[in-house]
Order: sequence, then structure tokens, then C-alpha cells
Amino acid sequence: AKNKAWSGRFSEPVADFVLRYTASVGFDKRMAMADIQGSLAHAAMLQKCGVISAGDLEDIRRGMAQIREEIKNGTFDWQLALEDVHLNIEARLTALIGDAGKRLHTGRSRNDQVATDLRLYLREELDEITFLLNDLQKVLVNLADKEADTVMPGFTHMQVAQPVTFGHHMLAYAEMFERDRERLISLRHRVNRSPLGAAALAGTTYPIDREYSAKLLGFEAVMQNSLDAVSDRDFGLEFLSAASLIMIHISRLSEELVYWMSQRFNFIHLPDRFTTGSSIMPQKKNPDVPETARGKAARVVGEMCAFAVLLKGLPLAYNKDLQEDKEPVFDAIDTVKDTLHAFIEMMPGVEPQREELRRACQAGYPTATDLADYLVRKGVPFRTAHDVVGRVVRKASELKVDLHEMPLSVLRSFSDKIEDDVYDCLTLEGALKARNHTGGTAPAQVRRQVALWKQLFEKR
Ligand code: ARG
Repeated sequence: AKNKAWSGRFSEPVADFVLRYTASVGFDKRMAMADIQGSLAHAAMLQKCGVISAGDLEDIRRGMAQIREEIKNGTFDWQLALEDVHLNIEARLTALIGDAGKRLHTGRSRNDQVATDLRLYLREELDEITFLLNDLQKVLVNLADKEADTVMPGFTHMQVAQPVTFGHHMLAYAEMFERDRERLISLRHRVNRSPLGAAALAGTTYPIDREYSAKLLGFEAVMQNSLDAVSDRDFGLEFLSAASLIMIHISRLSEELVYWMSQRFNFIHLPDRFTTGSSIMPQKKNPDVPETARGKAARVVGEMCAFAVLLKGLPLAYNKDLQEDKEPVFDAIDTVKDTLHAFIEMMPGVEPQREELRRACQAGYPTATDLADYLVRKGVPFRTAHDVVGRVVRKASELKVDLHEMPLSVLRSFSDKIEDDVYDCLTLEGALKARNHTGGTAPAQVRRQVALWKQLFEKR
């Protein structure tokens, strides 16, 4: 019964299944480096405050250096019986350096320890994901640059609406990923606060200096309420919702890539290395990467929901339920990073099929609005113009021709305001060029946006 760090008051050992059921070492050992980092800062603070000796601190540093090596080269003996990453490392430290190892936990609890670890761990991953988003934006901006003039149908209700440029479409996603970056950057400030020193829940009787350990760990601030410090996980939920939005954006892009690749559209080609075949149908080339990403979005959204439900009924302060905070966060980190990597690799390989995109555009009278706008410029009220053009479109579809293919005499039978300059605005290029203002789809605007993005990339 004496094999555990807390077994003093127990008269029989923990049942095996309880051990397995309640242990977290299988997944929380991912935070080992953060755990060591946190312990070293705590020890340095204890020494500075006169709670442990300089000799103890030196021993702790030496022991931790060796443990780091053992973990890195895979020789560290993780034991389920020691429950979690914290007790595993502490036990090994004590085995290596004796009493100084037993002093490390003075004025600390696993409750503030685990909160500290998760914050340190997530802080690093946030920076990596922010960086990956930036890389994905670069790839999208380059594609936009290449396809600034490529006309494609813009849809509403999945019906051809107005022509847009492929570049403009790609830049829409760059904007979404920019807001995703902003969310991570803002969240980082709320993650980057120190719970260390809150101890179990109420603080500690030792003369500690929380500001000091916070500073050593690069935290921006010290959490001001010990109960909140050990029981708050709202930063985890914030992360999962930011991660969900990243995946939701990726999933929308994926859906577009999937249908763009369908033979009924044939808007893009993807290089073979991003697609897979069928075990029965020899002709198949399937968009598995975007489909997988669309599916993985579901799992991250699920993790966000699980996390919200985990927190919603918990009384203060620490409850063991909180151990369930880690797996969703870790899995979302892995999923988002893998997915972003895949898209950073894949997007430069997207080949828009320019002829086909143009053909698709012509099918749905996408310049009808332009004809209405033309009439408005000639003094016709917009609602009247809308009605006139509606009738022109009906006629065009009877004749099975596009608007720019209708003879002037036919067009004039609908309105005598129409003159031969009308054809400038009935072409796809004319329609694109006319939308020349901030946020518009004109190739000139796309190029301007691309230049602005490139300036931004230089700066960060
Ligand atoms: N493995 C635990 C967790 O992840 C560490 C904190 C345990 N604290 C406790 N009082 N049982 O939450």
C-alpha cells in the first residue's frame, strides 16, 4: 500500500482496474518537457524564497537534466502505477537524487502543476499552428496571383450568379485563415498566464513568489485567484473553438475542391499524389485528401462539444473530470497540424481548368446584372431594368444563346436605351473589370490584394 505518492492513509492498494481507469500517463506524457520546465521554475522560486537550499536546487537541476535525456532517447520507464506524467517524473527524480527530489513538491499541488503544464504545452503549439496558417495563406496568395485573370462562375444557391476570378475565390480563404490566426494570437494571451503557486486550491503557507516563477516561464501574468487558477479550462475550450473554425474553413474549401474535381464540373485537376484510386473501378481518381479533411473537421467540432460539456457542471475547484481535458486538445492539435500540412502541400498543385471554368460561366447568364446596371446608367430605374433584363434572359434561353450573342436589334426590342456599346458589359471580362473597388473581383483588385498580402508576409 506504500507504493504511491499519496498512499500514507490507505490500508490496501488501489484495485488494478481503478489504476488503469484513472491513470493518464498514457496520454499526458506528451507534456513531459513542459512538466520539467514548470518544475525547474518552481524549484528555482523555492530556492530564491529560502524554502529549499541551493544544494537541493542544484540536485534537482542535475536530476531533471538526466530525466530529459532519458525521455528523449526513449529509455524512461513510464509506469502506469504512477498514474500520470507528474508522479512519474517526480518518482524518477527522487530515485536519482534522493531527498532533494522529495522537496520539489513543497508548496505545490498536481492541480496547479497540471494547469501550468497544459498552458505551457498549448502555448508552444499555438505558435506552431499560427505559423502553419501563415504558410497556407502564402500558398493561397501565390495561387491567386497566378489566377488573377482566370474567370469562373461565382455561385449563390449553387446557381451561377456572377463571374468572379479564381484568384478572388482563393483570397476569400486567405481572409478566413487570417481571422483564424487572429483568434490564436489573441487566445495566446489568455493561455499565457501562470496558475503556478495556486497549489491545491487555496494557495500555500510557504512564502512563495508567484511572480518570479511566472517570469521564469515566460508567462505574461499571474492568475489572481487560486480557485480559478486550478479549475479554469476555458482556454482549452477557446482553443477547440478556434481549432474548429480552422477545420470548418478547411472543410468548406475541401467541399469545393471535391465538387470542382467531379466530372460534371471538371473545374480543377489535382496531381495524382494527392488522390487515390478505387480497388474495384480502375478509372477512378478520388479527392481523398479534401474528403479526409472534411471528415476530420467533424472530429474537432466533436472535441469542442465534448470539452464544453465536460466543464459545464463542474463545481470549483479541481475535479478529476478535468483530466479529460487533455485528449481532445491533443487530438485537435494533431488533426489541425496534419490537415494544414496537407493543404500547404496540396494547394499549389491545384490546376484550374480555364476553358471549362469559362464555359461553365457562360451557361447561366452571369452578366445579366451587368446589363441591368447598364440600363441604370442610361437612366432606367433599377427595378424596371431588372424586369427588362429578366425578359431578355427568357428570350435568350428560348434562342439558346448567351446575352452577348444576341443581335442588337433583338436587344433593342426590349429597350431602346440599349446601344452598341452594350457588348462591353456583356462579356465576362467586361463584367469582371467593372467590379473595381476594394473587395471587388476585378483582376486589378485581386492583384492589389495579392501585393498587400505579400507586404504583410514580409513583415511577419
Ligand atoms: N492527471 C491529473 C489531471 O490530468 C493531474 C492532477 C491530479 N490531481 C489530483 N488531485 N488528482 O488532471
